[in-house]
Amino acid sequence: MPMRQKSAKTETTKQHGSQIQAPKGKLGVMIPGMGAVATTFVAGVEAVRKGFAKPIGSLTQMGTIRLGKRTDARSPKVKEFVPLAGLNDLVFTGWDIFEDDMYTAAVKAGVLERELLDKVKPFLSSVKPRKAVFDHNYVKRIDGPNVKKGKNKMELAEQVRADIREFKKSSGATRLITIWCGSTETFIEPAAAHQSVKAFEKALTQNDENIAPSMIYAYASLMEGVPFANGAPNLTVDIPAMHELARQNQAPICGKDFKTGQTLLKTILAPGFKARMIGLNGWFSTNILGNRDGEVLDDPGSFKTKEESKLSVLEHILQPELYPELYGKFTHKVRINYYPPRGDNKEGWDSIDIFGWLGYPMQIKVDFLCRDSILAAPIVLDLVLFLDLAQRSAELRGLGIQEWLSFYFKSPMTAPGLYPEHDLFIQLMKLKNTLRHLQGEELITHLGLEYYD
Ligand SMILES: NC(=O)c1ccc[n+]([C@@H]2O[C@H](COP(=O)([O-])OP(=O)(O)OC[C@H]3O[C@@H](n4cnc5c(N)ncnc54)[C@H](O)[C@@H]3O)[C@@H](O)[C@H]2O)c1
Repeated sequence: MPMRQKSAKTETTKQHGSQIQAPKGKLGVMIPGMGAVATTFVAGVEAVRKGFAKPIGSLTQMGTIRLGKRTDARSPKVKEFVPLAGLNDLVFTGWDIFEDDMYTAAVKAGVLERELLDKVKPFLSSVKPRKAVFDHNYVKRIDGPNVKKGKNKMELAEQVRADIREFKKSSGATRLITIWCGSTETFIEPAAAHQSVKAFEKALTQNDENIAPSMIYAYASLMEGVPFANGAPNLTVDIPAMHELARQNQAPICGKDFKTGQTLLKTILAPGFKARMIGLNGWFSTNILGNRDGEVLDDPGSFKTKEESKLSVLEHILQPELYPELYGKFTHKVRINYYPPRGDNKEGWDSIDIFGWLGYPMQIKVDFLCRDSILAAPIVLDLVLFLDLAQRSAELRGLGIQEWLSFYFKSPMTAPGLYPEHDLFIQLMKLKNTLRHLQGEELITHLGLEYYD
């Protein structure tokens, strides 16, 4: 296959690779949940646009992609290789149960310094929350006044659809994306109401308790043909009804739970142990955090949702069924404690008990003094830009789940029956190979025998 370098703005029909429409006009970003993550993301985009700061942590903005042979010396920036929307094209709206605009919400979240926030104040203040779809039973630790009313859940979904249409019109956006940055909802399992679009719609009109608020935003978005990303561990779009709707309306979906902090490190370290056939006896993870997310996760129902998402990672990476002697009986515990003095600056401690040659035990301690929303914001940006790319791609838009975006999630969504890939490095290869494939470039296998011919 010939190798060609594509510039970001080309509109040509591809001979190799798949067709992608050019990103013309504005891209509207709609965010249910205008808390720490959402405000750090939006303030950050504006700060980068104004030249006050750099988009550190964002693969779309800072990453490169190698094309062809190592000797070809072709490594364009990702954003120059695939046609992504530019930061200047992004416009924003959001929903929240609190009435604070993005500036006030960002000040309260306490992630970014006041000095930086004040530089982007007029812009941030202009993003005001729309009334939320909220059900206190799903998020027990918080309550707020800015909430929609309707006679049933279908009516609430209609109101969100009206919000979406209004935003599209008033902002002049040509395309839209929804990304859930709302609180973690209480743990629920897939029920009859989730099994098909038909069952889901019936359940909406019957006010079925199995329909969470996040699902109402997702349904409204997909019905409007808008892609949806899920940043929390909630079930939301990870149910057959949403898979069906996403494919039917060619609105890509992805989730769930942004991979930041402790789980990010877990998916960096665990593949390393496995690569060297180092055994694991146990992994104890504690977190102390003091932001609103921490307060919500102090509720056992919300914590269970998060715990499920965090726990599955090691099992999938280490594959105990293939390596029973190394990973057959390790103990994995995750704890989250709400500790107000720390605010958004979480401390994640890992105590890892490994064993090596002849079974000799060793220990590793990781103490990550991380900033949750600082790690999450670039993920939000990349997901927004990549989901928009997916919807403009003839090959990706009808697939529903975008598994190539697993890189960004603690609990990646996959086609039914497929186990998720958690290893960060495999996820990155999958993502970059997807981009190469879309642009008709050779996939990189790292075989490399040709250098020794
Ligand atoms: N920060 C991270 O590193 C990270 C990583 C993975 C996942 N997450 C998830 O992202 C989400 C956001 O995190 P955060 O730190 O910004 O939390 P946050 O508490 O600061 O913000 C969440 C916001 O969502 C609002 N909200 C709750 N239910 C809503 C609803 N039904 N409709 C509209 N708004 C609603 C809350 O009022 C709050 O303002 C959480 O679910 C969190 O678990 C965060």
